[in-house]
Amino acid sequence: MTLPGAVITGWGTALPDTVVTNAQLEARLDTTDEWIVSRSGIRERHVGGTVSTLAIDAGRRALERAGLAPEQVDLLVLATCTPDLAVPATSAAVHFALGLSGGAFDVNAACAGFVYALVAAHGAVSCGAAQRVLVIGADCVSLLTDPDDRATAVLFADGAGAVVLEPSDDDGLLAVDFGVDGSAHDLLTCAHGGYMEMEGKEVFRRAVRTTVDSASRALQRANLTPDDIALFVPHQANLRIIEAVASRLGVPMQRVAVVVDRTGNTSSASVPLALADASDAGRLRPGDHVLMSGFGAGMTWASTVVRWNVDTAGSALASSPGTRGEKR
Ligand code: COA
Repeated sequence: MTLPGAVITGWGTALPDTVVTNAQLEARLDTTDEWIVSRSGIRERHVGGTVSTLAIDAGRRALERAGLAPEQVDLLVLATCTPDLAVPATSAAVHFALGLSGGAFDVNAACAGFVYALVAAHGAVSCGAAQRVLVIGADCVSLLTDPDDRATAVLFADGAGAVVLEPSDDDGLLAVDFGVDGSAHDLLTCAHGGYMEMEGKEVFRRAVRTTVDSASRALQRANLTPDDIALFVPHQANLRIIEAVASRLGVPMQRVAVVVDRTGNTSSASVPLALADASDAGRLRPGDHVLMSGFGAGMTWASTVVRWNVDTAGSALASSPGTRGEKR
């Protein structure tokens, strides 16, 4: 039996309208634009909305780009570690608002969540459980961030990115590597009702080492080398991590997708935001190999190599109004 493959046919993004610049943070925290830019590469970030409002906007745009009616989609996989509610899964509300068919579930693998969700979606298409899948990464990490903690408040923010997967004889997902090192689960945590706490230096070291190893394994499994990669889409946590990973992998920065300077760390949303930004900028051609890598709390990681098969045309990261409800 030949299992059907799946390819990405649409993508979309949503960022809250409210932009917080480093100058605004300078005004209320003991920090400077120079510190934030030199340590993280972040210049501004978007804050606001809820995971469901952002996911709905990004999902709708991805469906439009794919030319699909909502009812043609029979599975929603939503990666988030900041769900609107503890129960039910946020994907239920998003599924209803978009008017999708079939099932829906959430995935929490922190900043590696989108790649995990993509793998789950691909598996659902391959085994015939679903025909067309909407995969969304959406997080409002600002809700879990102590606004007075300069160590985290400058880094984390909100957003959503989505892709549509459709069946194809020519499979677009060439290789996967994922894993978790639960022995390090206490390096980056947020207790119920609390705020994010992080051992920044150790997380930095692990992010570089683990992303390089995982991306290398995915490349090896796809029988590709870094030279074969048209676009590397790493998790957007910190420009210094991205540069260190790219340099160790041997992928020049001209072939790396970067939005962290404009978005901050949006966790599950970061990889699809960067992927959509690059494709909207016309940086991808049919046949191009795209390497995506996520890394996050857990500590989780996930990398995949996909073959791009859509011609892209220019537009910018989409902003979305979005009103924020009560803090959880
Ligand atoms: N402004 C000014 N100073 C700050 C600051 C801020 N916003 N945040 C922290 N500092 C201070 C620290 O208190 C420390 O002061 P001290 O030396 O008096 O104790 C000093 O700056 C140096 O901090 P340090 O931790 O050595 O800086 P760093 O070079 O490691 O950069 C991070 C800090 C958090 C930017 C970096 O470690 C990092 O990016 N880690 C990974 C975080 C991440 O990606 N998390 C998500 C993974 S999914």
